[in-house]
Amino acid sequence: MSATTTAPPGRAGELLAALGDRAVLHGMYDAYGSSVYHHLATQGDHEVRELLGVIRQLPGPVLDLAAGSGRLTTPILALGREVTALELSPSMLGLLTERLATGPAALRERCTVVRGDMSDFSLEQRFAAVVLGTTSVSLLDEAGRPGLYRCVREHLAEGGRFLLSTVEMDAARSSDIEVELTVPTGAATYRMYEYWAPGDAARTVTIFPDGFDVAGEKVVHVCTTTIGVLSANQLEAELVGAGFAVRARHPLPMAGARHPSVLLEAEAAA
Ligand SMILES: C[S@@+](CC[C@H](N)C(=O)[O-])C[C@H]1O[C@@H](n2cnc3c(N)ncnc32)[C@H](O)[C@@H]1O
Repeated sequence: MSATTTAPPGRAGELLAALGDRAVLHGMYDAYGSSVYHHLATQGDHEVRELLGVIRQLPGPVLDLAAGSGRLTTPILALGREVTALELSPSMLGLLTERLATGPAALRERCTVVRGDMSDFSLEQRFAAVVLGTTSVSLLDEAGRPGLYRCVREHLAEGGRFLLSTVEMDAARSSDIEVELTVPTGAATYRMYEYWAPGDAARTVTIFPDGFDVAGEKVVHVCTTTIGVLSANQLEAELVGAGFAVRARHPLPMAGARHPSVLLEAEAAA
């Protein structure tokens, strides 16, 4: 196995070990992982619908943090808004730029793409809404989140809202420590493993191409990511400590999801 990142636990780790040198392990947002993420990012639109419903009430420009390949950026642009999309991974930025280049010019012209770190950024603009979707706040550790909260406060216009989602990892729903899912996308079918033992501070998601042969000869590309577990209560407490008031919690029902997600709507406290 050629490791570019830490090997995952559980069944995914056993499969990697069985593949040995034929496995190439990638991070989720490197050049290979980004394309897999992009294929999977077409799944499920509850969060998009909920976000758009809130953003419609907040006239003005929108900042989409950790924008990835634009799963949220493009529908927000389609509302007619100016959007700044901030993202750290060059591979993800490449996919976003390509998506904008092949889409309508009217959308592209209203989008500013910025390479940056969501825990430390400075843009010369304030926004009616700052969006951090797809539970991406959990990608930052405890040392990184205060910087995120400070930067968001500095970039919110008066009355602006910070909209961020998280997954409620629920021990009661976790009779299995590891879940295996087959996920067909328009481009390829993947086999996904999610490993989380109740009480663990992080979960690991690992993605194989579906139908690979453990005993075969071909190289198998696998990507993995470790995501911190951050409950809505903990997130709300951190936001309040950082000078926000949480105005609403929007549940995000996702058919078949192992754990429910929630979208927090926060604004700078008076
Ligand atoms: C779960 S994806 C979400 C992408 C997109 N918002 C979506 O809904 O599909 C998380 C994204 O966060 C990016 N990312 C990770 N750490 C980051 C950081 N410190 N600053 C900005 N982006 C970051 C990753 O490269 C990845 O594109």
